[in-house]
Amino acid sequence: MTTETLNTPTDLSSNATRTVAQALNAILADTFALYLKTKNFHWHVSGPHFRDYHLMLDEQAAEIFAGTDAIAERVRKTGNTTLRSIGDIARHQSVVDNDADFVSPEAMLSELRDDNLRLVEALRAAKDLADAAKDNATSAMIDDWTDQAERRAWFLFETGRKG
Ligand SMILES: [Fe+2]
Repeated sequence: MTTETLNTPTDLSSNATRTVAQALNAILADTFALYLKTKNFHWHVSGPHFRDYHLMLDEQAAEIFAGTDAIAERVRKTGNTTLRSIGDIARHQSVVDNDADFVSPEAMLSELRDDNLRLVEALRAAKDLADAAKDNATSAMIDDWTDQAERRAWFLFETGRKG
């Protein structure tokens, strides 16, 4: 059995969709890494704003996780293969894990805001590739994922403001 068994019928050019799939697989790895970092901070946040931050981070984590299946299935719909394991995520991710014993709540919010904004940049680059491949469904879905990441960055920015 080869991966050809996993081919999916599509009229899109296989070379162009492979490039889009590579970008989406990197975004998928970052989405998983960002999901776990957001949950990590949800679990370990502390201080006088605990309830607000704890709840906001849980909402954001749920939204991030919900995106993972759609990204992976988009890759499969265009006849490509996607991530298979935690190790695969680690090999593809560019979001940097935060394994620190203690992170201040302010640092949590600003780190997640920056991670979300970097994800937005990756999504914009992937949209250019999808448009070049005439993959309009991926392009349209990227618009939603971008809007969600921008919304998360906005909430993280406003919540972390001092006065
Ligand atoms: Fe929880």
